[in-house]
Amino acid sequence: MKPLIIANWKMNLNLEKSFAMMEYLEKSSYENFMIAISAPYLAYFAKSFYKIKFCAQDVSTVEGYGAYTGEMSADLIKSCKISHSIVGHSERRQLMRDSNMVVQKKADNCIKAGIEPIICVGENLEFRRDGNYKEFIFQQINESIPRSADSFIVAYEPVWSIGTGIVPTTEELSEMFYLIKHHPKLIRVAKNIQLVYGGSVNSSNCKHLLSIENIDGLLVGSASLSKKELDLILS
Ligand code: PGA
Repeated sequence: MKPLIIANWKMNLNLEKSFAMMEYLEKSSYENFMIAISAPYLAYFAKSFYKIKFCAQDVSTVEGYGAYTGEMSADLIKSCKISHSIVGHSERRQLMRDSNMVVQKKADNCIKAGIEPIICVGENLEFRRDGNYKEFIFQQINESIPRSADSFIVAYEPVWSIGTGIVPTTEELSEMFYLIKHHPKLIRVAKNIQLVYGGSVNSSNCKHLLSIENIDGLLVGSASLSKKELDLILS
């Protein structure tokens, strides 16, 4: 099985540009690839490009359906034939103040609705410099993962690496990947956990990153907005 590659387009690319990119990507034969696209495009793209797997970027803490203007439940996303959703991305944790408790609720809602969550964790520079990053990640995982699940994906994305061009050293990544993969609660809660790395991934560093032990794939942000970069990453 090829490593899992998840493109995170965030709030980029208007409808026309996204559509053109999809037409191009549909020709790719890479089988373990999905794109986290903006919410308004999910249902439309999932119907138009059945060869591509799509992923939501977030879900609501509210379950099911009802009078919740502006909310987007996991059930609603599932009805658009979407199989995965990111939860707890550091941009949401920082900008929208999503706490571990909120992220866990979102992850639980995904599981209940039949969506596999991609739960993001990652320390900021302060924790990395203080040397408290291991405890921080340990707690983030403890408090953010769903209460019970067959399978889910954990994305290790150090905040200091997202969009900065700075990638942790091989030693730093090996240490974190090992710690995450051997986290006792993760092992207890789910049978099947995949670990992906995100933070300044591009075509020049992807092969090396994928060669590090305990990693199952990559979460690619800005580089995934370029056809050339994505082609190289998927090749
Ligand atoms: P980046 O973003 O690849 O632009 O660093 C990754 C992410 O935020 O998921």
